[in-house]
Parts: sequence; C-alpha cells; structure tokens
Amino acid sequence: MEKRSRLRYGMVGGSLGAFIGGVHRRAIALEETADLVAGCFSSQNEKNQKTGQFYGIGQDRIYKNYQEMAQKEKEREDGIDFVCIVTPNATHYEIAKAFLEAGIHVACEKPLCFTVEEGQELEQIAKEKKLCFAVTYTYTGYGMVKFAKELIEKGEIGQIVNVNAEYLQDWLIDEIGGGDQTTTKMSVWRTDPEKSGISNCVGDIGTHIEDTVAYMTGLHPKKVAAVLDCYGMDLDLNANILVEYENGVHGVYSCSQVCAGHLNGLVIRIFGSEGSIEWVQEDPNYLKVTRKGQPTQIYNRGTGCITGMAAKLNHIPSGHPEGLTYAFANIYHAFMQEVLDQINGETGDGQDYDYQDVSDGVMGVKFIHAVVESSQKGAAWVEV
Ligand SMILES: NC(=O)c1ccc[n+]([C@@H]2O[C@H](COP(=O)([O-])OP(=O)(O)OC[C@H]3O[C@@H](n4cnc5c(N)ncnc54)[C@H](O)[C@@H]3O)[C@@H](O)[C@H]2O)c1
Repeated sequence: MEKRSRLRYGMVGGSLGAFIGGVHRRAIALEETADLVAGCFSSQNEKNQKTGQFYGIGQDRIYKNYQEMAQKEKEREDGIDFVCIVTPNATHYEIAKAFLEAGIHVACEKPLCFTVEEGQELEQIAKEKKLCFAVTYTYTGYGMVKFAKELIEKGEIGQIVNVNAEYLQDWLIDEIGGGDQTTTKMSVWRTDPEKSGISNCVGDIGTHIEDTVAYMTGLHPKKVAAVLDCYGMDLDLNANILVEYENGVHGVYSCSQVCAGHLNGLVIRIFGSEGSIEWVQEDPNYLKVTRKGQPTQIYNRGTGCITGMAAKLNHIPSGHPEGLTYAFANIYHAFMQEVLDQINGETGDGQDYDYQDVSDGVMGVKFIHAVVESSQKGAAWVEV
C-alpha cells in the first residue's frame, strides 16, 4: 500500500466563537500535514452547521452528535485518522471513549475527565487498541520548556531542591461575591460543577502547573496540602498548594483567576543544588538559567545555543516571537508524526513522539482530586 503523507482529522466542539477549538485548527494548519474533513462542532444545530460550512466540510460529514460521527467515520474508507476533542470538561470522557472504541486516535483537551477511574479506563482502551492519545497540555509544547527539560536532565542545575510555580490570571475577579451577569456569561461552564468537575481554577490552570513541572523535572506530586478559595462561588477561583514530590523535595504551586493585573502569568521556577531555571509563559521564547555563583544567562529560542528537541521545533527565525499557537503546533507535530508512522507501519524515533499523553491526563485528574480533598480536610496532607 502507498505510504500516506497527510492525515484527515475531525473535531468535536470548537464552533465559531469558541475559544480553544480555533487554536487547535490554526496549530494543525501550521504543521501543513492534516486536513479538517469532519466535525460535530456544537450540540446546537445552527452553530454546528455554520462552523462546518465555514470550513468547507461536506454536508454528510457535519454530524449532529459525536456518537454518529464516531460510527460513520469508522465505517468510511476515507474516515478521519484522529479526532480533536475541544468541548467542556464534562464531555471529554464519553467522547474520547466513543472515538477510541471506533479505532480512531484521539487528541483531547485537559482536564482529561472527571474521575481517575474514567481516565484509567481511557488509558486502558487506548493501550489495548494501540491508539495514540494526546492530552493537549499547551505549555509542554514550547521549545524553551523542552530545552529546560533537557538542561535539567543533563544535570545543569544539579539536584532539584525546590520548585516554585504560579499561574495567575484576573479574568474571574468579578465573580468574587457570587458573580455578576457580565462575566458569568463568559465563564458559565467553568464555574458550574456539572460541566467543569470538582474544581474550576485547579482544573483549568493548576493542572497546567502540575503537568509543566512534571514534564520539565520528571517530578510528580506524591502528597499535597492545599487551601482553595471560592469567594461565594460553587467552585474555586484561587488555590495555594504545597507539594511533596516522590523524592521528598517540596514545592509550592499557586494558581488564581482573581489576581488583578495578571493575565496569563504562568511562571515556573526550578531550583537545583547547582543553579536554577525560570520560564515565563508571557515571554516564552526565552529561558533564564543561573549557574551557582555565575551571572544569569538568557537563552533565546532559535539560536545556536539551543540543542535537542527545542532546536528542531522552530517555525520562524529567532527574534520573531512564537507563542501559544506554535506551542500547540509542536504538540500536534509530535502526535501527528506518531499517528502517521503507525498508519504507515513505521517505527520512528520515540523521542520524536514528545507529547503529553493519556497517562499524563490521568495524573492531572489525580492531582485535582487530591488538592480538593486536602482543602476539604483543612489543608491536610493528602496522597496524590
Ligand atoms: N490547553 C489549554 O491551554 C486550554 C485553554 C482553554 C481551554 N482548554 C480546555 O478546552 C476545553 C474547551 O474550552 P473552551 O474555552 O474552548 O470552551 P468554549 O465554551 O469556548 O467551547 C466549547 C465548545 O464545545 C462545544 N460543545 C459543547 N458540548 C458539545 C457537545 N456535546 N458536542 C459538540 N460540541 C459541544 C460548544 O458549542 C463550543 O463550541 C475545556 O476542556 C478547557 O479546559 C484548554
């Protein structure tokens, strides 16, 4: 059979005007190796149709629900190779399961699902069916985060002794005291336990801290002690979390959606016995590295001092900022390479398949549950 060089994909969620679905589409387009050919972009028919037509999807492949989409795409000879799931949290599990059962590779937004058991079930199905399953933890897609991982692995900052990470936003500040009509409109599903799960802020952005730190350092939280603040809402808008890793080292994660003046302030600081590393997502093309007793150095994306995976992932020359969409493109680059290799019966270099997968998604769900339980128990230490 002739080798394939392009993939076909479908999307569930991501109607026109939705947030992250459009980012996924633009990121995949940057890679120039996959075509959007099917979708169920909204559970509302009109929105779904409008979006499908806007992207030139054939009428027979704009589906009224994801179940029909999974079934019909499975039956087609030219069916989709993978699906992007970009719907609110409550639906990820059932949608991912339907596509896995149809034998279709999955890229799903975080948090992966509501319960650890659901996540483990998805992990098991993907494993049994040998399907690729990406969980799109955005920040691990950045080249400079990959470079940080490489420096840490090489021992450039010595043994890790402390982690200090924050993700501060202010877009839900008007929700303090129970919310008002204006912002509630924007955030309606995120602050609704039925659609968001047991946590808003930790699920939405705290999981990004957990995943980015784990990716950079290999350190997973073993125990957490946390205080969540809801300020009159059903779910948390602010969280301060003490973390103990498997090796006994401690760290602090702080995430919030009510910090005036902070927009998308993810900052990761890793401290080692020989130095430190700091990455700031609002200035993502740079990495600050300090070796003990030396002046601080700033590494620039796309220059000769960058090595490894990070050196391979430049879309545009250094000095031109690469941001969020490029980070997603890097995730898709790795995921789509694995999907394509599988289809073509090839085994590529495992290092090229550098994306966060379903097991990282399960870890995120465990983290959310432990943090919420700890807060409910008055900041007691809880095993993750
Ligand atoms: N990785 C990241 O950095 C990042 C950033 C933003 C959002 N997210 C995640 O992406 C997901 C979506 O968030 P968003 O901000 O884009 O939400 P959104 O509300 O802007 O968009 C959700 C979309 O899903 C559609 N939808 C809802 N239920 C559906 C169903 N049953 N079938 C088909 N379509 C359905 C809606 O019509 C809408 O188009 C969430 O899980 C969120 O946590 C991740």
